[in-house]
Amino acid sequence: MSEWFESWFGEDYVALYPHRDAADAVRAVEMIERVAVVPPGGLALDLACGAGRHSKVLAERWWTTGLDLSEVLLRLAKRDKVDAAFVRGDMRVLPFRTSAFHLVVNLFTSFGYFADDASHLRVIQEVARVTATGGTFVLDFLNTAHLRDTLVPYDERMIGDHVVEQRRSISDDGRYVEKRICIRGQPDKEYVERVRLFEAGDLTYMLTAAGFTVSKALGNYDATALSDESPRVILFGTKHR
Ligand SMILES: C[S@@+](CC[C@H](N)C(=O)[O-])C[C@H]1O[C@@H](n2cnc3c(N)ncnc32)[C@H](O)[C@@H]1O
Repeated sequence: MSEWFESWFGEDYVALYPHRDAADAVRAVEMIERVAVVPPGGLALDLACGAGRHSKVLAERWWTTGLDLSEVLLRLAKRDKVDAAFVRGDMRVLPFRTSAFHLVVNLFTSFGYFADDASHLRVIQEVARVTATGGTFVLDFLNTAHLRDTLVPYDERMIGDHVVEQRRSISDDGRYVEKRICIRGQPDKEYVERVRLFEAGDLTYMLTAAGFTVSKALGNYDATALSDESPRVILFGTKHR
């Protein structure tokens, strides 16, 4: 059986979330540029780049590679004629040499998708392996505290001619948030999105265990400090060994 993230990140994902857009990507990359120290002409990796909206902005500053699992999203990225290399791959086994990048970014909750935490740690270890000493890893994840307080259990909207229903819940053990998406039609199409509810402390622990020092923790793309009310958890890790 295939994993949920292999089927969900395709055409329907793009149709459903058109607001995950270019302006948002510019804001995120400008904030990263202000906080991280990356040499001019450095090498950047957009890990789980999707359709490449951040890769495009990163590529205006650094030599950029985008990696993603989704053929559909990579096709969209390449169609955009972005000045970056795009590679299909799995974040658990990165096809790059050790210490290859000065900056690695994982943006917009592109983490926490696996059924076991060993796989999550494996991703961070792979990121640490491909990050040069002194390089930066930016992990931009949902803020679990904020999500628990604001979860909308059900909503419904129209996308084109189709009613789209979204049901959100937290698993009984409290470890995952699950979104069930149903696109009404003939036949209906159903998808699941399942993300591990890591706390900021869990993420910091994994980064530290893999060889990063967490130098900054922000709560949004405007660079405000992290709090329980922040929509995001954005950690900056510096590779120290
Ligand atoms: C929420 S989307 C965000 C995409 C992009 N970062 C953005 O902000 O537009 C998550 C991305 O993770 C990718 N992904 C999921 N599992 C993956 C894996 N095991 N290895 C690499 N990419 C993966 C998906 O294909 C999807 O493009």
